[in-house]
Amino acid sequence: MSLKPIVVAARAFPPAVEARLQRDYEARLNPEDNIHSSDALLELSEGADALMVTPSEKISAEFVGKLPETVKIVASFSVGYDHIDVDACRARGIAASNTPDVLNEATADIALLLLLAASRRAHEAADIVRNNCWTGWKTTMLLGVQMTGKRLGILGMGRIGQAVARRARGFGMNIHYHNRSRLRADLELDAVYHDTPESLLAVSDFLSINCPSTPETHKLIDHDRLALMPPNAVLVNTARGDIVDDDALIGALTSKRVAAAGLDVFDGEPNIHPGYRELENVFLLPHIGSATVETRDAMGFTALDNIDAALAGRDLPTPLWSR
Ligand code: DGY
Repeated sequence: MSLKPIVVAARAFPPAVEARLQRDYEARLNPEDNIHSSDALLELSEGADALMVTPSEKISAEFVGKLPETVKIVASFSVGYDHIDVDACRARGIAASNTPDVLNEATADIALLLLLAASRRAHEAADIVRNNCWTGWKTTMLLGVQMTGKRLGILGMGRIGQAVARRARGFGMNIHYHNRSRLRADLELDAVYHDTPESLLAVSDFLSINCPSTPETHKLIDHDRLALMPPNAVLVNTARGDIVDDDALIGALTSKRVAAAGLDVFDGEPNIHPGYRELENVFLLPHIGSATVETRDAMGFTALDNIDAALAGRDLPTPLWSR
């Protein structure tokens, strides 16, 4: 008979996070870091008090419906929660939480990395050196698109979008944004608000996608909307892959209607659309937006703070729904 509450760790987590998990709970760890099937995760959840999950686990209504009575919280190690049916959790009275805020800066850093890498042709440039094809400095070699003085459209001006804006101002960019609601003046500063995505796209020399994946944003960046962007535009995505229609973006990159893209997230990842691998003008990363030691630890500690609160009957620090 266990004296400590039981927490199922659906994936392997950073060492400091697992150390705290094991200190405070009977932890059912996943040292092999397997992605469990729903059935396997349900089996592991027998008699458990809490689940710590990631976007690789689909917490559907069907899954939630089958969770044992003992489970009091599903805590996600992510800010995005498109993998969780929050209404189903609420209907069963199972708490649900995410990890907002702690990853704003790390994710915004990667957005800037993508903006720079895509516009300055980092993929082609690095390959030339690595493949020993560099024949010497040339005045016309690998000319890119300059960020200074350009308009950066930020689609989704939440906390990560605002962190991207702060950085981009330092590069001399003019900030435009679309968001469900206009920001307060002290947050908006000099940024120009657009009340539709279409109006934003029409002025976005550079576009950074920072909105959540929802039914409204699913494949929002499609052929028609890409066609609204100015010539030579650069697009980066650190949010969720399904916001972009892959065929449309690959078509626009192939025709150079869009000059370049930088992508950290993909529809169906890790099985990305193979067309991206054929293109020189796209810089690809494997969903590392929040991947720093500091941020991943903070995400894990936030998930554990939520589990601690749920099991102690306290209000959650970062709930996805509240009573
Ligand atoms: C998040 O926290 O949502 C990141 O994208 C990791 O999945």
